[in-house]
Amino acid sequence: MNVYETEKLLSEYLLFHYATAAEILPENYGGEEALHYPVRCVTECVNALALPLGARGLDLGCAVGRSTFELARLCSSVIGIDFSHRFVGAAERIRRDGMMPYERLDEGALTTPLTACLPDGVDRGRISFEQGDAMNLRSDLGAFDIVVMANLIDRLHAPLQCLQRLPMLVKPGGQLVITSPCTWLEEYTPRPHWLGGFERDGTRFTTLDGIKAELLQDFDLVDTKDLPFLLREHARKYQLSVAQASIWRRKS
Ligand SMILES: C[S@@+](CC[C@H](N)C(=O)[O-])C[C@H]1O[C@@H](n2cnc3c(N)ncnc32)[C@H](O)[C@@H]1O
Repeated sequence: MNVYETEKLLSEYLLFHYATAAEILPENYGGEEALHYPVRCVTECVNALALPLGARGLDLGCAVGRSTFELARLCSSVIGIDFSHRFVGAAERIRRDGMMPYERLDEGALTTPLTACLPDGVDRGRISFEQGDAMNLRSDLGAFDIVVMANLIDRLHAPLQCLQRLPMLVKPGGQLVITSPCTWLEEYTPRPHWLGGFERDGTRFTTLDGIKAELLQDFDLVDTKDLPFLLREHARKYQLSVAQASIWRRKS
């Protein structure tokens, strides 16, 4: 059973990607700095000035599509890819119709109807969504000027397989943004496939150490930053996480 195909996760992610501050935090008990994460993954991590004219973008693990739409402000064409048919269907519906109604869970069986809207000023003609597997992408995807992978790696069965494709996926001089809360769970990633979060030869080996070990041959590490994000489950239950973003430049 893929949780990302369920109605529950669909509405939680539509809320996470498209809700206003008032729709997520109606009681205003704090946490505002952790809102709009899929927007911040682009605005705080992508160097817009370094992108060429006619840039191509890829949002890998795009879920219901918000970062893909934000990338379309900076790129002439953007592809959003996710394994979940349901998520990709919702992203495509928002692209095509400009909106999608959904229910926010409040308590028990009580819900509130909301609408996920295409962000203002986004040219939907630049965007396409497709279902795909980040560990086994189609061979004719081509190369991109910017690749964003937000909160994806610790949800993959074999994250290394995904990282190994990146030198081919990012153009020389192109940008790569990887964010992760490093929440390694055996239900998604068997322990031998974790990129980090364990001791190796008596020293702590982090997820960033694991990403560096794979990428440093082909990429320069430009920056790292902490990005808090808030997932709302229902009116009285939220999950506050802090993702680690690493920002890379493909060697020329
Ligand atoms: C934690 S969510 C993050 C989604 C989104 N990037 C965000 O930051 O809100 C993980 C996403 O990865 C997707 N995913 C899981 N396995 C995948 C795979 N093998 N290939 C592509 N996407 C995958 C899930 O469907 C889900 O949308």
